[in-house]
Amino acid sequence: MRIDWTTLPEAVTKEVANRIGGTHAIPATAGDHAEIAATVTGTNGKVFVKAAHTDFGVRSLRFELRVSEAVSGSHSPAVEWHFEAAGWLVVGFEHCDGPHADLSPGSPDLDLLGEALAVLSKMQAPDVGLFSPKGRLGFEHPAMDGDTLVHTDLGPANLIVTPGGLRVVDWAMATKAAPWVELAMLTSWLIGAGHTPEQAEQWLARHPAWRSTNADALDYFATKNAEKWVSKSAGATAAWIHDLADWTVRWAAYRRCQA
Ligand SMILES: Nc1ncnc2c1ncn2[C@@H]1O[C@H](COP(=O)(O)OP(=O)(O)O)[C@@H](O)[C@H]1O
Ligand SMILES: [Mg+2]
Repeated sequence: MRIDWTTLPEAVTKEVANRIGGTHAIPATAGDHAEIAATVTGTNGKVFVKAAHTDFGVRSLRFELRVSEAVSGSHSPAVEWHFEAAGWLVVGFEHCDGPHADLSPGSPDLDLLGEALAVLSKMQAPDVGLFSPKGRLGFEHPAMDGDTLVHTDLGPANLIVTPGGLRVVDWAMATKAAPWVELAMLTSWLIGAGHTPEQAEQWLARHPAWRSTNADALDYFATKNAEKWVSKSAGATAAWIHDLADWTVRWAAYRRCQA
């Protein structure tokens, strides 16, 4: 849940101002997990600031910080600085300028995503206490286990198309798993962006990790993931939960028809 920048203690805003040369903050309009997520501008430039002060928020941001430091490179914004003050953990990320990726069929951003996935699928999981598939998703299958760093939340809001290429942000749910788990999680976003389940699978089949995955493991994943989101959507009011239930159910239904 976001809170307002202006409610931050002075000890925090002063520290930020020291680093950026000002604190003109514009809250992020996408996502809503982080307590503070804002573009902050000063005389030294622009930084993306995430901050937290609840126990859960600090734990989660500390985890994201560790993962981000480990992955910072061509496809992920660098961590520029971090500090703690007045009970807050505050992290300054390299600012990524540009729109969110368009994942609709035929979009050129899909090629950028494909390239990023090829790089990410080769990233050995850093030793920073990543989620297990069961811890992240609530279900498990032996084929989901692996040694790859899997972002698990590659929706358009976490993909920014900058003049320098695609950047992947928000590593708060990073998981150590088999590389196909990343692709299986992507089905929802591809379907949500207008692919039929068949088109989504066709696109994913360019990736060796998809082609080499056992169909039973994919069936199991699709079914369990759909069950999870249907159960979450019962009684939920947030539209995004109903969207995910819809998209995951469509994929699971398609796989059942193919069986
Ligand atoms: N480094 C960055 N530069 C520019 N914008 C960013 C950056 N990181 C995140 N954002 C934007 O802010 C939004 C929220 O940040 P995110 O890290 O995804 O937080 P949340 O955990 O709330 O989803 C993202 O959807 C993206 O639009
Ligand atoms: Mg996000």
